Amino acid sequence: MRITGKTQLVGVIGYPVSHTLSPAMHNAAIAELGLDWVYAPFPVAPDRLPEAVRGLQAVGARGFNATIPHKESLLPLLDEVSGEAAFIGAVNTVLFHEDGRSIGYNTDAEGFLRAMDESGIAPPAGEKAAVMGAGGAARAVAAALAKAKARKIVIVNRTFEKAEALAAEADAAIGVSARAEPLTEAGIASALDGTALLVNATSAGMDGSAGLPIDADALRPPLAVYDIVYSPPQTGLLKTAAQNGCKTLNGLGMLTHQGAIALERWTGLKAPVETMRQALLAAL
Ligand code: ATR
Repeated sequence: MRITGKTQLVGVIGYPVSHTLSPAMHNAAIAELGLDWVYAPFPVAPDRLPEAVRGLQAVGARGFNATIPHKESLLPLLDEVSGEAAFIGAVNTVLFHEDGRSIGYNTDAEGFLRAMDESGIAPPAGEKAAVMGAGGAARAVAAALAKAKARKIVIVNRTFEKAEALAAEADAAIGVSARAEPLTEAGIASALDGTALLVNATSAGMDGSAGLPIDADALRPPLAVYDIVYSPPQTGLLKTAAQNGCKTLNGLGMLTHQGAIALERWTGLKAPVETMRQALLAAL
C-alpha cells in the first residue's frame, strides 16, 4: 500500500473494533480499483462518538462504516438519515458530502436483496415470507422484503411483544402487510404455512450456538431458507433445509454486498464484489 498526500480516508468505527472484517474487504476492493484510498479501523468508546464523527469529518474522511455499538446512536448525530436507515433504526454507512452534510445510510436491506439476486433464489414478490427475529437485523430484512414487494411477512420472535411492535411498524411505515407470531411450535407452523421464504435474522446458530427450534419436517421445498448468519457458513438450520432439498443461502453474500454498496456510495464506482467476497473468506 502506498500512502500519499492525496490518500482518501474511509474506515469503520466500533467498540471493540479489532474483530472487524471490513478493512480486509474494503482494502482489497480499493487495491483492485487502483484507488489512492485507505480503509482503517477506529476504536471509538461510546461516549466519544460525537467527537469521533466530527473528527473524521474534520480530517477530510470521505465517510465511514459503523458497527456495534454505534449503529443506533449515530442517527441523531447526522445531518440527514435515509428513510430506510430511519425505519431500521440503525446507520451502517456515513457519507460526508462535499457540501459539508453528513448523510447516514443503512446498506443491509439492499445487500440482502443483491445477495439473494445472485444466488438464484427468487425475491418473494407477491409471496408470503417469514422472518425469525425482531432486532436490528430483522428490521433490515423486513425493509428488504417490503422493497421486494412481498405480499405478507410474518415476524416470529422469542420475545413476542417485540415481534408485535415490529409488525405494526412495518405495516404502517414500509407498506408491507405484517403480523407477528411467537417462537413456539404453533407460531412457527403458522408462519411457515404457504410461505415461499424463511429468513433467520436472529443470532441463533451463530458460532456454534443452539439453533432455532424449527422442526425438520417444516423445511420442505418450495420453501427457500436464507440465514443471515455467515459463521459458520452452514448453520444447523441451513443444513437441515439443504438435506430436505430446499434452496438455501447464508449471510456471506449480504455481508459482502452491504460493504460493496457502502464503497459505491463513497467512490461512485462499481465495487468489485468478487474481490470483496474472496477477501472476506480469507479473513474469516
Ligand atoms: P441484531 O441487531 O443482530 O438483530 P438484536 O437487536 O440484539 O441484534 O436482536 C437479536 C435477535 O435475535 C432478537 O430477535 C432475539 O430475540 P429476543 O428479542 O427474544 O431477544 C433473537 N435471538 C437471539 N438469540 C436467540 C436464541 N437463542 N433463540 C431465539 N432468538 C434469539
